[in-house]
Amino acid sequence: MNIIDAQNVTYQYPDGTKALDDIDFSFEKGSITAILGQNGAGKSTLLLHLNATLKPTNGTVYLKGEPFAYDKKGLHHIRRTVGMVFQNPDDQLLAPTVLQDVAFGPKNLKLTDAEIKHRVNEALRLVGMEAYADKPPHFLSGGQKKRVAIAGVIAMQPEIMVLDEPTAGLDPQGCAEIIEILDELNAEGRTLIFSTHDVDLAAKWADEIYVLHEGKIKKRGAPPQIFADHTMISETGLKLPTFIQTFRELKVRGISGGDSPLTMLNFVESVSKPFDILKMRCAIAGADVCVGENVGLIMKNGTLCTIRVDADLNAKTTAFGRVMHNAKAGEDIVVSEITGTITPKTGDIHIVPIPRVIEGGSRAVDLETIRTIIAERSPHKIGAMGTSAKVVVRKAGIHCDFEVDVIQSSILAALRGLNVMVFATGGMVDRFIQTIENNNKHSGQEIKFSSLAIQASL
Ligand SMILES: Nc1ncnc2c1ncn2[C@@H]1O[C@H](COP(=O)(O)OP(=O)(O)OP(=O)(O)O)[C@@H](O)[C@H]1O
Ligand SMILES: [Mg+2]
Repeated sequence: MNIIDAQNVTYQYPDGTKALDDIDFSFEKGSITAILGQNGAGKSTLLLHLNATLKPTNGTVYLKGEPFAYDKKGLHHIRRTVGMVFQNPDDQLLAPTVLQDVAFGPKNLKLTDAEIKHRVNEALRLVGMEAYADKPPHFLSGGQKKRVAIAGVIAMQPEIMVLDEPTAGLDPQGCAEIIEILDELNAEGRTLIFSTHDVDLAAKWADEIYVLHEGKIKKRGAPPQIFADHTMISETGLKLPTFIQTFRELKVRGISGGDSPLTMLNFVESVSKPFDILKMRCAIAGADVCVGENVGLIMKNGTLCTIRVDADLNAKTTAFGRVMHNAKAGEDIVVSEITGTITPKTGDIHIVPIPRVIEGGSRAVDLETIRTIIAERSPHKIGAMGTSAKVVVRKAGIHCDFEVDVIQSSILAALRGLNVMVFATGGMVDRFIQTIENNNKHSGQEIKFSSLAIQASL
């Protein structure tokens, strides 16, 4: 079902600039849509139509099938349903303090004071800005302002979240954190629409991409379709995601094959197969080696290592090869003439669902049980995905290997033979399982997974 539809939308600014030129668009409920396009393409203008900040000069926008009403009541309804993060936080942050700013939206929702306080604190905590609650927004750095603006929308909990360049100005860690929070909100069923110049982010995260160019929609489709159209990408001043560029360079040199990858996982898949055919591998020297020496190959802690053939050969070596150059223990080497198979036995992924905040969150979890599960299984890697899960892990004092890009990192680790345990909040679990199942289908390597709810302590 489309939650927002629009037909024949044209928008002309008062000075005569036609920023949108007779375009149609629609966003499916629960989906993530990225709007791409160079400076001045019309992205912000389009997004400003979605919460009725702008009214089309021509054409109609519909919310759940009903045409937008631009009277007071209509606007109130639209702005309750559609939360907006403006491109420039200075257009958004107007209250005297950060706290008051984030509380502004929830106050308009006529919530109780306790609920407002809870939402505001939670939102500020999520974006890492709780320590700045009493500061005037105009004293914050650009990235901090962006975080506060995002907190304002999170606190509203709208069904649809529209974000104009949500990651612009954020540092890499901050960017990953914000995406993860938004991803969790999406897993709860919220629709996300964002503009960005980050093609890598659009490729890996969006269900659908719109490419805007000079006020028109140049192309609309799933990421693989969009990035397969190289001519359109260059005509519209965009660039290909780094993975795809790298893949193409390897492909023309005969090193990678198959479809264009969109993620690290696809990329690893696309390069590993041809290496099997070449009968060559890079590895870490387990001991000093000489050119021409015969070695065994094993996966050790998820890394391909050589072992001496004259050493303990019971050590599950299923592959052998010849060293191509002298190297000391621990150095990178190339091994050729490989016989046997070096596909490691895959590790397994154990998912521990953690209740969402509304289901009691971290308070519903007995930390001792968590520590016991980890002690029993002693996984090689531990991950936490989603806000409640992260709180649980932090409270239990557990070191986490994966806190961002958790699904991919876990699958990549399992493919290297490592066992992974991931604490995942509510709605994220299904998505995780789906990704593992998809990977199992495509990669031909079966990762075993289990998901076991822990006993709630409430
Ligand atoms: N208030 C305004 N008055 C007149 N023209 C405007 C106004 N705001 C934007 N424009 C023009 O409308 C066009 C689309 O601008 P818009 O801000 O939507 O682009 P954008 O795709 O968001 O670009 P950016 O990547 O730089 O944010 C541009 O040509 C811009 O100059
Ligand atoms: Mg813009």
